[in-house]
Amino acid sequence: MEAEQTYKDRIDKERMPRHVAIIMDGNGRWAKKHGLARMFGHRQGVETVHRITEAAAEAGIRYLTLYAFSTENWNRPQQEVDALMELLVDTIAKETPTLMKNNVQLLTIGDLERLPKNAQDKFRHCMEQTSQNTGLRLVIALSYSSRWEIIRAVQQMAKEVQSGTLRVEDIDETTVSQHLTTCNIPDPDLLIRTSGELRISNFLLWQVAYSELYFTPCLWPDFTVEEFYKALIDYQGRERRFGKTSEQLNTENKG
Ligand code: IPE
Ligand code: IPE
Ligand code: MG
Repeated sequence: MEAEQTYKDRIDKERMPRHVAIIMDGNGRWAKKHGLARMFGHRQGVETVHRITEAAAEAGIRYLTLYAFSTENWNRPQQEVDALMELLVDTIAKETPTLMKNNVQLLTIGDLERLPKNAQDKFRHCMEQTSQNTGLRLVIALSYSSRWEIIRAVQQMAKEVQSGTLRVEDIDETTVSQHLTTCNIPDPDLLIRTSGELRISNFLLWQVAYSELYFTPCLWPDFTVEEFYKALIDYQGRERRFGKTSEQLNTENKG
């Protein structure tokens, strides 16, 4: 408890990342470590989602994106996929009051249509219910992958060019960004991945172009608020240069 206070106190409220994205990984290994079936790890992972969402809302972070289920995760054993879908449905029903209490707005990115009908309904209902909330935007990536999203964007732009509503020479970074499922969401400032894997796994490839990356060996069910604060502090110690030199940034800051 005391350590949590210390980390919390070290966070600079003025330099909060606007958008934090997390690849929540390691539920299966956590379960294995405890001699349990994989689903217990996923259930424990939901507890972490609850904790971190509350901490992010309290810290004044504007956007928190959580990678919950990837396009590639459809290739897992059917039993695990079914159980995960069921867990999503239960979780969303259970967590909606907490989202309301914390003034959190729920958003989703990904191919929602691929989810079972009851999961789609639950998510749509929760998005509607929380749509007027003005605090943290919690973005859940469901049946999401970056390549899926980019293909979809390219197809849409091609159609617009075909129909004459978009000129090829007008396509720029903004046009591409606006055709992604994250169109109204700023790019992540900080990307966290738990469980020690050092890869992006098809997550927000376009959007993380200049994000700060933070990898921790901690398994997602073990990821505490304190660990989250540690990541924020680490982020705040970095110099984001965006291709410029350190000297340039120092002059700009003084000016
Ligand atoms: C992350 O945990 C959750 C999902 C991908 C749905 P994993 O299930 O990938 O856990 P590990 O990587 O097997 O430990
Ligand atoms: C990434 O985790 C996807 C989610 C966290 C939802 P995975 O466990 O599926 O990633 P890989 O397969 O190890 O790269
Ligand atoms: Mg994994």
